[in-house]
Amino acid sequence: MVVVCSGIEAIGAAARRLCASRLVVIPTETVYGLAARVSDVAALERVYALKGRPADNPLIAHVLDARQAQTITTGWDERCDLLADAFWPGPLTLVLGRARDVPPLAAGGRDTLAVRAPAHDTARAVIAEVGEPLSAPSANRSGSVSPTSAEHVQQDYVGITKAQDLLILDGGPCIQGIESTVLDLTGTTGRVLRPGTTTVADIESVIGPVQDAPVTGQSDSPGTARRHYAPSTPVTLIHPDGLGQALSGRDDAVAVLAGAGVSVPKPHVHVSPGDTPEDWARHLYAALRRADAMDLAAILVVQPPEDPAWVAVRDRLMRAASPQ
Ligand code: TXA
Ligand code: MG
Repeated sequence: MVVVCSGIEAIGAAARRLCASRLVVIPTETVYGLAARVSDVAALERVYALKGRPADNPLIAHVLDARQAQTITTGWDERCDLLADAFWPGPLTLVLGRARDVPPLAAGGRDTLAVRAPAHDTARAVIAEVGEPLSAPSANRSGSVSPTSAEHVQQDYVGITKAQDLLILDGGPCIQGIESTVLDLTGTTGRVLRPGTTTVADIESVIGPVQDAPVTGQSDSPGTARRHYAPSTPVTLIHPDGLGQALSGRDDAVAVLAGAGVSVPKPHVHVSPGDTPEDWARHLYAALRRADAMDLAAILVVQPPEDPAWVAVRDRLMRAASPQ
């Protein structure tokens, strides 16, 4: 049975489970993560199996701070110190070398390892109690919409036998709402592998220029598959001027994801993540899940502006709308 709990006693229970190779879902400020101890190969295997994640798609190790990050990575340099001082705890993941005693499976078989210090008190308390970093991918089943609440996680594992022994820590809705920015620092110039709410401008203000060409290839960062974060209802992106035309002549009802001010005629259903980039990031996955649950013919998304502030949200929308 999946157990959901919160509160201070839950931290101890979660830590005991993790030390016994059982999995725990932890809340973070970005999305919920499916956690195992970074050194626990049997539990890491369970993470891959339960998520249905390909074995070569590496995991992020969650640490308390820069000191703990250095115990599991190699190549920590001045850039890392500057970035950790500026953005940790928070939604920035650094890809560095994998320390020799970290099992390859924690990194999908790679020589590199991604690390970040999450900003959620519950995640931090569990890492502190366990005394070791926790590997945790987003807790959704592979390819589908990431969970931003404990209920989302529960819904994803209903009827999945392998999830029988899952403890979900309920830390409320995630404040940031989309996954961390992933920055590869294994080369002399940093490279953004996945955009997030820590923007390229934020990073460049601290360490100078980085590369931020969009990554859609599996080899650089296997989690950046083009189709990802996708509901089962087909998603289509619509230019703001094209909504009327997209709806005209449709006799089947669709869900329209759009800013609060957009008018959506009946029988279509308006689902609004809000108006600002922060609102959209925070509410996007809940909105996609809500729209998907309506079981309508399609989800049309009125695209947010092509502006640097919207890069991370547009990235997730593009992947949600990619054909199967
Ligand atoms: O906000 C987040 O990052 C959330 C929370 C739970 O911390 N985690 C998350 O994990 O989104 P996941 O596994 O769903 O996505 C990790 C991303 C994937 O795109 C993966 O390919 C990439 O990070 N990644 C991890 N390790 C990497 C590595 N060594 N080299 C390149 N990319 C890596
Ligand atoms: Mg994910």
